[in-house]
Amino acid sequence: MTAMVKAEGVHKSFGSAHILKGIDLEVAPREVFCVVGPSGSGKSTFLRCINHLEKINAGRLWVDGHLVGYRQKGDKLYELKESEVAAQRRDIGMVFQRFNLFPHITALANVMEAPVQVKRETKAVARERAERLLDRVGLADKAGSYPSQLSGGQQQRVAIARALA
Ligand SMILES: Nc1ncnc2c1ncn2[C@@H]1O[C@H](COP(=O)(O)OP(=O)(O)OP(=O)(O)O)[C@@H](O)[C@H]1O
Ligand SMILES: [Mg+2]
Repeated sequence: MTAMVKAEGVHKSFGSAHILKGIDLEVAPREVFCVVGPSGSGKSTFLRCINHLEKINAGRLWVDGHLVGYRQKGDKLYELKESEVAAQRRDIGMVFQRFNLFPHITALANVMEAPVQVKRETKAVARERAERLLDRVGLADKAGSYPSQLSGGQQQRVAIARALA
């Protein structure tokens, strides 16, 4: 069975700070996998690498069997174009540590945005799912609120609904 996420010898540095020192892991489809560790140890950095929001310095990462951010020819790696990376990200959900909700639109619109803009779903279909997901995270009554009107935890749950959408 193809691993949902696989890492092999992943290294990441910021300048002289060596943060990820050879990460190896395999997550099976439907498996729930928790990464736990001290603040500043590199958890978010690793998640960002899985999305190719950070470039790794060594090693390989795969999602659903696809090499993240690169194409392999022989034993050489070629970086994908930004449009190809964007296509890969379409199938990976991420909840940012600071949520990064769009501040100028409502909770409901935040959850509808990507399916409509990126996947070209109709608004009716996207709205129906967004309402269901907001209900699932306990925010049915906050669909019309803007992010600045929500508590930190409520914003976090909108971000989870958005990632699921
Ligand atoms: N863009 C960056 N430039 C320089 N250093 C960075 C950058 N991003 C993260 N770091 C450093 O990398 C280390 C790991 O940061 P990261 O955000 O991955 O930690 P974390 O494990 O998610 O911590 P927390 O539990 O506080 O969220 C930290 O020391 C941080 O200062
Ligand atoms: Mg973090």
